[in-house]
Amino acid sequence: MKVIRTNNYEEMSKVAADLVISKIKAQPNITLGLATGSTPINLYRQMIQDHQQNGTSYKNIYTVNLDEYIGLPKEHPSSYYFFMKNELFDHLDIPKEQTFIPSGVVADLDEECEKFEQIITNVGGIDLQILGIGPNGHIAFNEPGTPFESRTHVVNLTESTIKANSRFFKTIEEVPTRAISLGLKTIFESKQIILLASGPKKAHAIRDLIDGPIDEQYPASILKKHPNSILIADNDAMQLVSTKSDTILSSDFLAR
Ligand code: GLP
Repeated sequence: MKVIRTNNYEEMSKVAADLVISKIKAQPNITLGLATGSTPINLYRQMIQDHQQNGTSYKNIYTVNLDEYIGLPKEHPSSYYFFMKNELFDHLDIPKEQTFIPSGVVADLDEECEKFEQIITNVGGIDLQILGIGPNGHIAFNEPGTPFESRTHVVNLTESTIKANSRFFKTIEEVPTRAISLGLKTIFESKQIILLASGPKKAHAIRDLIDGPIDEQYPASILKKHPNSILIADNDAMQLVSTKSDTILSSDFLAR
């Protein structure tokens, strides 16, 4: 795992946007794996801006989302479907039928999980996966202890994740207690993975990821086994890391 340290959120987003947009330009039919949450919002804004100003097209791109809350319909303002539509898809020229997000309101959730794995296979696998990280180290909704071999599955959210995500809901009681999530193995099979982290609330998770072992208690640590994974984290998120590693690059290396 390559680590790029940036000064702040804006710089983290810029480094990520430069990487993502250059991949899209090089491979206009790329399959992107997308994340929700506050972390990738500025990256998505830069993708939209680049599309509007430079005409980078998404007509032949497929997207697959990581997760969705169980019980929230598409129209619910806190659903991940709603988020993706508002923060990204409505502002690009991507055909709606090329964007895939698991549904959390189907009768048969196990069937939805299998269907989602099939969709990923049908689009030829995920070329570039964008990830955020939860304060407890989860990626997508794979909570600590999730097997590295897991496929798309139904998850019971931990108290800490419900609390962390309650900021997107009117009350904590409104936060669903379950979600559908891509499994860790499914994510790991992506050809390239970019993990984004910003702010002091992620400092423990990033310390565990960099300084800690590869262990199912730290779901993101699976990325250390991946041949083409990059962590882009800002100073606040990196503040507890003690590993002094040559592999930690400052963002200005990209300009060299
Ligand atoms: C949720 C999502 C994750 C996301 C995490 C962090 O739990 N399921 O995919 O990475 O939140 O969110 P944020 O970027 O808002 O800190």
